Amino acid sequence: MKKIIFDTDIGVDDAFALACAAKSQQILGITTVFGNVAVGQAVKNARLFAQLVGCDAPVFRGCSRPLALSPSASAAPVHGGDGLGDVLENPFPEEADSAIDFIINSVRAQPHEVTLVAIGPLTNIATAINLAPDIVPLVKELVIMGGAFGTNGHAGNVTPHSEFNIWKDPHAADQVLSSALPVTVLPLDVTHEVLISGEDIRSLKVPVLEQISRGYLQYSLAKEGFEGMALHDTLAVLWLTYPDFFTTVKAPVRVVTEGITLGQTLRKIGALASRFDPYAGCREQTLCLGVQADKVKAAFLAMLQA
Ligand code: RIB
Ligand code: CA
Repeated sequence: MKKIIFDTDIGVDDAFALACAAKSQQILGITTVFGNVAVGQAVKNARLFAQLVGCDAPVFRGCSRPLALSPSASAAPVHGGDGLGDVLENPFPEEADSAIDFIINSVRAQPHEVTLVAIGPLTNIATAINLAPDIVPLVKELVIMGGAFGTNGHAGNVTPHSEFNIWKDPHAADQVLSSALPVTVLPLDVTHEVLISGEDIRSLKVPVLEQISRGYLQYSLAKEGFEGMALHDTLAVLWLTYPDFFTTVKAPVRVVTEGITLGQTLRKIGALASRFDPYAGCREQTLCLGVQADKVKAAFLAMLQA
């Protein structure tokens, strides 16, 4: 069990990840960020869903827009207007204390003990290390769901070359991934390999998970012909308990911040010295490019079985 700060743009798959984190980790706090929904809605969703899964961690409000880009499209078709499938009443307020202050103060107070789990755009993480560079060597690990490197043809989901979390704020992602933070990346290369069906979800016999995923599954059935979903964010949580289920490579990573491949994550391949090296000075990050999908799916189902 690790001490984690759960940084989320809480949509449907984020909620599944929170349900798993509540069962398997010590959640110090939930920090919210724009992405699937506006940050105020993410505060409301985090408070509501944390209560529904018995998590009493405090919720904080983070960044409402990208570092440099103009705000872009939300993920409404997939996650619903409220981010949780438009099926739950949500009486919670959207105001909360600063997520950035919470991240900085928590890492300073517990050096080398706090794991950051970021499953939305990386704007909060980038803002925190820009404001307080001293915390970079004090973070135990940053685990993100984001990016895509092309393994098994998984190169993008919001464009052919970019994954949603990175695409929403490529400048933040480039700063974070090229920093000295120890980052473990769960990209589409592995998250698109672990799919669960509507039947799997119904077998959990956890009504709220079935309710919030209904619209997501219908969208997937209509668009892909499959009544199911990729776990995406949950894999960032399962990495903490089951790292051996993943195959990793070490490489420095940069992010494209403009043009037709905006949001693309690039890893340096090969050691050939080049005259102009955009990876110079970048830390080698840990990239999960392979996964034992059956074992991850079984661990997920066992963790959430009512
Ligand atoms: O590309 C998948 C990611 O985008 C997940 O974090 C999902 O919640 C959406 O934010
Ligand atoms: Ca997310």
